[in-house]
Order: sequence, then structure tokens, then C-alpha cells
Amino acid sequence: MAAGSIMMGTAMNTITLRRPDDWHLHLRDGAVLEGVVADTSRHFARAIIMPNLVPPVVTTADARAYRERIMAALPKGDRFEPLMTLYLTEHTDPDDLEEGVKSGLIHAVKLYPAGATTNSHGGVRDFDKAMPALERMAKIGLPMCVHGEVTTPEVDIFDREAVFIETVLDPLRKRLPDLKVTMEHVTTEDGVNYIKSARNNLAGTITTHHLIINRNAILVGGIRPHYYCLPVAKRENHRLALRAAATSGDARFFLGTDSAPHLDPLKECACGCAGIYTSVNTMSCLAHVFEQENALDRLEAFASLNGPAWYGLAPNEERITMVKRDQPVAFPDKRETAEGPITVFDPMFPLHWDVSEG
Ligand code: DOR
Ligand code: ZN
Repeated sequence: MAAGSIMMGTAMNTITLRRPDDWHLHLRDGAVLEGVVADTSRHFARAIIMPNLVPPVVTTADARAYRERIMAALPKGDRFEPLMTLYLTEHTDPDDLEEGVKSGLIHAVKLYPAGATTNSHGGVRDFDKAMPALERMAKIGLPMCVHGEVTTPEVDIFDREAVFIETVLDPLRKRLPDLKVTMEHVTTEDGVNYIKSARNNLAGTITTHHLIINRNAILVGGIRPHYYCLPVAKRENHRLALRAAATSGDARFFLGTDSAPHLDPLKECACGCAGIYTSVNTMSCLAHVFEQENALDRLEAFASLNGPAWYGLAPNEERITMVKRDQPVAFPDKRETAEGPITVFDPMFPLHWDVSEG
């Protein structure tokens, strides 16, 4: 059997795959970091860590200090590698970022259009001002992770990804064809098609929840804040396009959970925060989705192989085994932290796949 391929049990109720990585993760800081980090390190070997703290992670020194806080919060014995990112601003120093890359600390730079989402007010308004950093990234092959939504008030929230591609991303990629771009949390058929149409230097992450919910989950029968995230879940045809892309084996698509913990009172209020906390049950949800799509043999490409290839890293040597249990797996409804509870993503169907080793 070729290295890296999935071994199926005879009853198709066991799969073994290389230990997965999460290519888009929010770990926060302080008590929330301490409360959530084990949910990722339990199953994942590495994760691209989002820099949208308050204040954001803007320099290599900030990223180094944040990495140390993450390492200190890990349960003893867990081996987990946080892959740090810098938050792109109009003042990002190209020399500082190159130094961070050379030292092995920095793996990507995150572009938040100013105002697009949680803690993005320090993001980029004028791309000309960010050009020195972007040009350096193109030169040294450092990927730019992009939150692909325009923030223009006139643009409908459900159209913001498609408009971003047309008016911001495509012009930027034409201006800097050597820049490697990771379109984060693609949520539309437009996004999938755009990635597929690119000849090189473009890939996309897909979240667990966007493979499972469409916008009805947020709005039917009452407003359900725990299904609200950004980019917001779209219509069913978009969810189906994401499923097709994720399960296709196409190396340009891979897992980035965008697991984004917020304390319950900050979501269950008149103006709730965007973010869905999926780290706890992501692998179980994904096995369910890939089985539904008759693509269990491609789960490893999506969760464990395509991401490292894009980021120029080796896939993990370790394996995890997933087992389909007769009884649903019991996941906690909430993750308790010293600052309060965080609701865990409810996929609205029973989860039978369990990570049995790892
Ligand atoms: O839903 C989201 N939550 N989308 C983002 O882009 C940010 C994230 C967060 O940090 O809470
Ligand atoms: Zn995110």
C-alpha cells in the first residue's frame, strides 16, 4: 500500500490516516486559550494560528511571545506545533516578516480587510500601503491567507465573497502573480470555481461547518447564534459546491476549521460575535461528511496531505485511526473555561465516527 493512502477496515468502519493538521485556527489567549487548546492538540499535529488577538499579532516578536503562551497552555505530553502568522497592516515591516520566516516561526501572513470580522479594525484599507510587505512575500514564497470578503456597506453580506474575488483578489493576484494566496474559509461556488480556474499560486481552505450547514441553520425557526460565523453560511448550492471540492481530492482544497471560540454570553446577545467552535468534533464531522459523499478514501488528502504540500511542509508521519461506533459518540455540548462556557458545534445529526487513537 502506498504511503499516505487510507486503509479501510473490511466492514468500512475503520480508517487510518496520517495525523491531520488544521490550516486555520483561532486559539485566542489567556483563560480561553487554556480552555480550548487541548481540543485541537488531541487530534491535530499542527495548526495555522490566526493573529486576530486584541491587540493583534503584528510583529515577529509578538508571534514568538504568542507561540510561547500557546506552548505553555498545552497539556503535558501533547505534541503540537503552532504555525504562527502575522496580521498584515499598512505598516508591516518586510524585513521583520522575512526574519520571522527565516527563523522558522512565521508560516503565513493574514490579510483581513479592515472591518471584515472579529478584531479586524486594524486590517488593510489601502493596498498600496501594504505593497512592500506583499512584494516581499511574493519574493520569498510566503503565503498570504486572506479573509475574502469586501466590507463595503452597500454590498449584501451574502455577496461579499464573490465581490471580493472580482474587485480585490483577482486584481491583486494580477498585480502580484508570484504571491501565493490561501483563500480562507471559502463559502461559495464562486470561490470554488475561482480557485479551480487558477493555474498556480492559489489554494483554499474549507471549514467543517460550511460543509454541514447552509444559511437555514442560522435563521429557520428562530435566530441561532451558534451557527453564525463569517463568512456567513450561504445557500444550499454553495454548500454542495464546497462538499464536491473538499471530497474531490483536488490538492488545492484542504481543511481549515476556522474554529473560533467565543464565550456564550458574547454570542447569545443582541449583537452576537461571529464564530463557530468546531475543534472538539471536527474529525468526527468530517468522517461523517466524507462517508456521505462516498469519499472516505479522500479524507486524508483533505485533512492531512494537501495542506502540508501547499505550505511546503512534510505530511505528519504519525497516524490516527477512526472507528465508526454503533452508538453515537458523546461530545460535550459546551467547553467550560475559567472565563465561562463556549458552545460546541452541533452538526444536527448523530456522530458515529470516533478518533480511537491519537
Ligand atoms: O466567524 C468568524 N470568526 N470568522 C472570522 O473571520 C473570525 C472569527 C473569529 O475570530 O471569531
Ligand atoms: Zn478565522
